[in-house]
Amino acid sequence: MPVITNIDDLKRLYQRRVPRMFYDYAESGSWTEQTFRENTSDFEDIRLRQRVAVDMTGRSTATQMVGQDVAMPVALAPVGLTGMQCADGEIKAARAAEAFGVPFTLSTMSINSIEEVAEATSAPFWFQLYTMKDQDYLSRLIERARAANCSALVITLDLQILGQRHRDLKNGLSAPPKLTIPTMMNLATKWRWGIGMLGAKRRDFGNIVGHVQGVSDPSSLMAWTGEQFDPSLDWDKIAKLKEQWGGKVILKGILDADDARMALKVGADAIVVSNHGGRQLDGALSSIRALPAILDAVGDKVEVHLDSGIRSGQDVLKAVAMGAKGTYIGRAFTYGLGAMGQAGVTRALEVIHKELDVSMALCGRRRIDELDRDILLVPEDFEGRWQ
Ligand SMILES: Cc1cc2nc3c(=O)[nH]c(=O)nc-3n(C[C@H](O)[C@H](O)[C@H](O)COP(=O)(O)O)c2cc1C
Repeated sequence: MPVITNIDDLKRLYQRRVPRMFYDYAESGSWTEQTFRENTSDFEDIRLRQRVAVDMTGRSTATQMVGQDVAMPVALAPVGLTGMQCADGEIKAARAAEAFGVPFTLSTMSINSIEEVAEATSAPFWFQLYTMKDQDYLSRLIERARAANCSALVITLDLQILGQRHRDLKNGLSAPPKLTIPTMMNLATKWRWGIGMLGAKRRDFGNIVGHVQGVSDPSSLMAWTGEQFDPSLDWDKIAKLKEQWGGKVILKGILDADDARMALKVGADAIVVSNHGGRQLDGALSSIRALPAILDAVGDKVEVHLDSGIRSGQDVLKAVAMGAKGTYIGRAFTYGLGAMGQAGVTRALEVIHKELDVSMALCGRRRIDELDRDILLVPEDFEGRWQ
């Protein structure tokens, strides 16, 4: 077993072990992938200020996200088809998150259902909602999340229609995979994945199959989103969903200060500055570049979180020092899961935690609430001058 010291090590192992179709699904952005690339490269443009001779004893990365205690300001982002990266992937990721003390967010498009994850865990998790045209189904989904004791509803706003990812179309992405000759040849080299899948609780969309009708191909993500997702979602509908849920609401996919103000108006408990990991609007700003303007607009009135591009504890440190109260990792934990199952998710969290803890100390800070822009060296034109 190779020594895992960083998230890239997990990614290499992940690529070897998981079928090509699901690796490509995670490791791609939409169209030219400019936003996908800049999500990570823009983090590199920010540097950290090294400070010395500061007492580093008694450090802690603990803080809160939407009023909940977290071991570090990092949650697992909702990732569709997690249970195709590894058998019972959502259950394994949720258990790793619970043991580590960080929130797990279950996607609407998960393989394991809300009920299966609830049964396998004891800490409340967060449920991510995609809004569907079928209002009955949507109401039942919200009720199922409530019955499972989910402690926050994460409503995703940046995917009413699907951005095109070329490789998913070329690979014929589906869950379970359709057994074409190229897929079978690839699966033959992924025996570890295949053996796990034979024993999986489920291999289809657990929150959907059997709960909703009228989709031409129930295994296809593209068919689901095209036929079921509600393209008419607007701020009025979001306000109604918030009312219907009645608990904590996190609005995910905000990249613009005007939208952040709207989110504030509908009473969001938190917003997630996100471009869906570069998977939706190609050409949009990276999340870390969009963050300062959003913080200026609403940062003192609503909790601002960030995702897209986080691959290390240093990235978490930069986002939090910039002003985010929490971050999410999507691909970073998915690599760990595909590489090593639950232990791989734990390893991804350990890696990020250590990087955050040590880098924070080397910047002369001991606690998350001591982090501010003073530890960052941000290029003068970082936010860009756009007309
Ligand atoms: C494979 C994959 C599937 C995703 N599925 C969902 C989803 O079902 N719902 C959602 O709100 N976001 C989804 N996202 C976006 C993530 O929640 C998150 O915004 C993104 O992964 C953050 O970027 P990062 O991967 O660079 O950390 C997905 C991302 C990936 C990589």
